[in-house]
Amino acid sequence: TSVAADTAERIELHADAGLSNDIAGMDWDALEVSIRGCTRCGLCEGRAHAVPGVGDRKARWLFVGEGPGRNEDQQGEPFVGPAGKLLDNMLAAIGLSRSVQGQQDGRSGVYIANTLKCRPPGNRNPEPDEALACEPFLHRQIDLIKPKLIVALGKVAAVNLLAREASVASLRNKVHEYRGTPLIVTYHPAYLLRSPHDKARAWEDLCFAMDTLDGLKSEQRDTI
Ligand code: URA
Repeated sequence: TSVAADTAERIELHADAGLSNDIAGMDWDALEVSIRGCTRCGLCEGRAHAVPGVGDRKARWLFVGEGPGRNEDQQGEPFVGPAGKLLDNMLAAIGLSRSVQGQQDGRSGVYIANTLKCRPPGNRNPEPDEALACEPFLHRQIDLIKPKLIVALGKVAAVNLLAREASVASLRNKVHEYRGTPLIVTYHPAYLLRSPHDKARAWEDLCFAMDTLDGLKSEQRDTI
């Protein structure tokens, strides 16, 4: 490659790093505007709406899916299709709701986001460079929310967050960590719609997640 091309590439990398640094300093409003107008990867070309996330910005729970599907792309909100209905039912079963209503205690709710903010064409899996380009947005969301627990929904989200290839079956029932926050893996609600026999396992995972949060609470009490 020519010196000019090398230099251009380096400048682009620096510009990118600069942008990531900018994202790391954003408040909620700036972050959402930045996600909705993002052109960091090619997925912006085919989207109707980028999908930043929804819910309690001071939530104890952060659920992270893979990326927007067709319905989410159209509406700009995560998990609004049939899988979203199931997710809402799963959340209700553990006393959580994505709606602002009913969140009396500011830290009792849930925030729902995706690893990828824009819909890949035909719902294909994210390419590594797309996941990488989008990562600073989720990092900033986590830094702002400061959740006590992250629940990764499905293999693509889990593998993306944990940066290693593994099945949901092998990752569930363990407390992992993502950037210092405990992370638990369970099945994706769209998978559960196709394989309802695994709903009992997903329920076990949610109970495990609640127990983990309870354990964290008593750990904190112990250290006071
Ligand atoms: N599936 C996901 O992983 N995320 C959504 O927002 C919708 C469907």
